[in-house]
Amino acid sequence: MFSGRLNIEFEPNRLSRLYDAKSAKGEKIIDLTSSNPTKSGFIYDTNILTKNFPESSAMIYNPDPRGLIAARETVRDYYKEIGKQVNIDDIFITPGTSEAYSYLFKLLLNPEDEILIPQPCYPLFEYLAMLDSGCVNYYPLKYEHKNGWRAEFEVLRNRIKDKTKAVVVVNPNNPTGSYIKSAEYIEFLSICREHKIALIADEVFSDFLISPCSHYLKTISGEDSYLNFILNGFSKMLGLPQFKFGWIIVEGEEDLKSEALKRLEIISDTYLSVSSIVQNISGNLYETRNKIQRQISGRITENYELLQKKFLLNPDIRLLKCEGGWSAVLSFANLLIPEDDFVYNLLEKKNVLVHPGYYYDFDREGYAVLSLLTETKLLEEGIDRILSLYA
Ligand SMILES: Cc1ncc(COP(=O)(O)O)c(C=O)c1O
Repeated sequence: MFSGRLNIEFEPNRLSRLYDAKSAKGEKIIDLTSSNPTKSGFIYDTNILTKNFPESSAMIYNPDPRGLIAARETVRDYYKEIGKQVNIDDIFITPGTSEAYSYLFKLLLNPEDEILIPQPCYPLFEYLAMLDSGCVNYYPLKYEHKNGWRAEFEVLRNRIKDKTKAVVVVNPNNPTGSYIKSAEYIEFLSICREHKIALIADEVFSDFLISPCSHYLKTISGEDSYLNFILNGFSKMLGLPQFKFGWIIVEGEEDLKSEALKRLEIISDTYLSVSSIVQNISGNLYETRNKIQRQISGRITENYELLQKKFLLNPDIRLLKCEGGWSAVLSFANLLIPEDDFVYNLLEKKNVLVHPGYYYDFDREGYAVLSLLTETKLLEEGIDRILSLYA
């Protein structure tokens, strides 16, 4: 009856079941996983919806498969502000970044073709690829105590097969918080060119630097690229996931790029998914960038510093180096039980919810992931409870 695409486990796992049971009983849980900016205590401008917006323009439907000019100008202005020239014709507006991936998978993948994604990484890729009948394979990021996370290029090269169509870089990566460094980017470019595959750069967290690091890239450059796609959107950049506004920028060798643009236009034209209203107010939304980013960046930095203090002298729990983004990773030494049991016990006994590392495909046991958007007082209380369980 149904397509084989959704070959997944539908039952909630035991952690979710416990969470639901406790919530139903009215128990107060400290949720250290929430990364919903609209529920994290930030102050938003409430006049952005109507300011400078002639209501009459809401009643006119005049779609453009690449996105309305006003929306693409907003995107172009963002890149201008961060020092990158983007041609308005190379921008596609999408209903968020997740769906931008879907456009790209339709563009690049035949059934069972593969994309290579970083490991660890945020857990949506398998679903995104599966829904477009593609597959994922992984290239590892390796953690070194002083330097943080780096891509293992030897493994990446070995994993490229005939069916590999794209390499994904998440800059900075979620949950590791590691930015792409310029030397790494050169290596990615040369691999993609050598194997004639595309590079997809997901930069949704790139405005959220936490610890300055040398040679990091806020956005990748199109120079010398074979075929690059840059993804971003307002969901993280402005803390506005509900507006469903994202984009793709296409860069690369002229012939390839123009072929990609033509094909993307068909894909986008088939759905015309992005509301004209949000496109028309994109400039207003963008004006809120400094105000909201000041708050989010203040929160994530304060929280990261708090975690550094809490775990500085702890021999058993280490805070891994994080350069940017909204997540922090804890590494547990000598965890005597499986990570999943530890996270379950933490919720059961201490009413604290964290994500176990395996949600993000860490290559071994012993990790937990926390959201740095958590209100700082709650985070502190949650950490103290983690420490008391581990003691
Ligand atoms: C790295 C990364 N890319 C993309 C997305 C999805 O973004 P959007 O809300 O624009 O679909 C997420 C969501 O958490 C993410 O972590």
